[in-house]
Amino acid sequence: MATLQAWQRTHWCGDVRKGDVGGEMTFNGWVRRRRDHGGLIFVDLADRTGLCQVVFDPSESAEAHEAAGGLRSEYVVSVSGVLVARSEETINPNLATGEVELRVRRLEVLNPSETPPFSLVEEDAAADELIRLRYRYLDLRTPRMQQNLRLRHRAAQAVRAYLDRQGFWEVETPILFRQTPEGARDYLVPSRVNPGHFYALPQSPQIMKQLLMVAGVERYYQLARCLRDEDLRRDRQPEHTQIDMEMAFVTREDILNVTEGLFRAIWRDTIGYELPDPFPRMTHAEAIDRYGTDKPDLRYGMELTDLSDLAAQCEFRVFTSAVQTGGQVKALVAPGGAQWGRMEMDRMTEELQRETRAKGLAWIAVLAEGPKSPIAKFFSEELMSTLLQRTGAQAGDMVLMVADRPDVVAEALDRLRRKLALRLNLIPEGAFAPLWVLDFPMFARNADEGRWDAEHHPFCMPHPDDIDLIESDPGKVRAQAYDVVVNGDELGSGSIRIHRRDIQQRIFSMLGITPEQAEERFGFLLKAFEYGTPPHGGIAPGFDRIVMWLCGEPNIREVMAFPKTQTAQCLMSGAPSMVDERLLRDLHVRVDLPPQE
Ligand code: AMO
Ligand code: AMP
Repeated sequence: MATLQAWQRTHWCGDVRKGDVGGEMTFNGWVRRRRDHGGLIFVDLADRTGLCQVVFDPSESAEAHEAAGGLRSEYVVSVSGVLVARSEETINPNLATGEVELRVRRLEVLNPSETPPFSLVEEDAAADELIRLRYRYLDLRTPRMQQNLRLRHRAAQAVRAYLDRQGFWEVETPILFRQTPEGARDYLVPSRVNPGHFYALPQSPQIMKQLLMVAGVERYYQLARCLRDEDLRRDRQPEHTQIDMEMAFVTREDILNVTEGLFRAIWRDTIGYELPDPFPRMTHAEAIDRYGTDKPDLRYGMELTDLSDLAAQCEFRVFTSAVQTGGQVKALVAPGGAQWGRMEMDRMTEELQRETRAKGLAWIAVLAEGPKSPIAKFFSEELMSTLLQRTGAQAGDMVLMVADRPDVVAEALDRLRRKLALRLNLIPEGAFAPLWVLDFPMFARNADEGRWDAEHHPFCMPHPDDIDLIESDPGKVRAQAYDVVVNGDELGSGSIRIHRRDIQQRIFSMLGITPEQAEERFGFLLKAFEYGTPPHGGIAPGFDRIVMWLCGEPNIREVMAFPKTQTAQCLMSGAPSMVDERLLRDLHVRVDLPPQE
């Protein structure tokens, strides 16, 4: 028979309630806070379920009370005693266990702790992030981080349960692979046994999941680790996790349906939120036209209005010449903005010029006595009133206009719209507005390099009506590609794939990949396509970004156990680090560092 340790836990600190009063129990956990009150010592004991107050009373156990005097923050202890109800005046309504406390008869210190470099008490201010990252194992003990880890776990379980019900198989794919074309830089791993050869860590399992369709898996998913050496931001890490999915014999509709079901299951099972059924949809062209972005935030209005035809009739040179040279004049209406003065508008204009390529910002304050604007003199009264009518502006509103090339207008007004929504408090608290953006363009012009790039990746099937345009008018080719957007954030991307070698070859050559290069890099995939490839498609929602929204966290680092800094370093372990000369020699790698200053 196994011997029971005295510290065998019987109850979780955060779970005990009034109904448990009278019970003998053992808690294990961390000393979060200790208070000496004359004869009594109170300790907030924490485990991953929460906190419970435990009391050391010399009249109950002199020995335990004596030992409790030596307890310090984050000591790991085991305590046994009887749970009692707190007296009325000592009840803590802010604590789930606030009506009870444990009267301790036995205390065992399982491990002492150095004084932590920052307080783990929930009410204390969050420590500096650099210190939190250096001592991540302590940071993860805080209630905020434990909640995030728990919610992330719940979300992963929801994903697995839902996709299993839908008949998906979870298949793991290699981390040591070759370059995949997701458009970021690769992380490379030198091969010891193949001198001068490198593995690339997958930017996503894109090629492997398509090969699994050739392999007859039909419905695949994986919580897949993806590695990309790209510039990091608040929602980008060098390693991230995708809910990677692929299905055979499907139409776009099937994939959208399964994905919506997945999102609804995740939101329901984690935070009990019901996402709309179905999700609204718009084409890429419509999203750009109405919001200036391919990931519009639909939690609030402020749609853009095209005023180009009216602007062409005014006398303001900036407007007329923009329209004459193929540009646009578009507007958005800031509700209640009419009271912003000239100084404020100058500041807003200057900010927009600094943050976007916009050359200026024209404005019309719609006052009760009539419109006020520095460019009013260029408009006839009639034209002005038609224009205001078109925008839907009401008395008290501010109309904001940008004239430029369509991409510049879109960039500027999208930026302005998002900023104003925050400033004007237009974003409803706790709301989620999902959206499908459909029919992305197949190619994006890379003006710097004078070539066409894949807007998503080169395996997207072009729209059947546009296949003939691939060579003649690539900018017009729509891909059967879609994004799922929530609250203005791209949470997933996917497409119907090319499953025919001839079309794949044409896309490669448009992207400037020669047949020889294609053969060298993707020959194995093209070959596979010759052995009975089912039509297939898929999507990959970004798991970390989903969890960010569920947790209400502004930064992706808060929902990852061990994230990297902006400069892709792990402050806790010191990765990346230098390695032994000998190890490098084994790997046939020589490091040429510039001489130290
Ligand atoms: P894509 O490159 O658009 O598509 O990535 C899919 C989703 O993954 C998330 N994501 C990231 N999250 C955190 N940090 C990053 N560095 C990062 N990069 C991407 C985003 C994005 O929408 N193989 C294709 C999918 C497919 O076609 O099926 C792919 O990887 O939420
Ligand atoms: P100006 O004639 O340059 O003083 O500009 C008059 C107003 O038009 C100012 O409010 C400018 O910010 C604005 N403006 C200038 N260029 C543009 C532009 N491309 N789009 C919108 N407004 C502009």
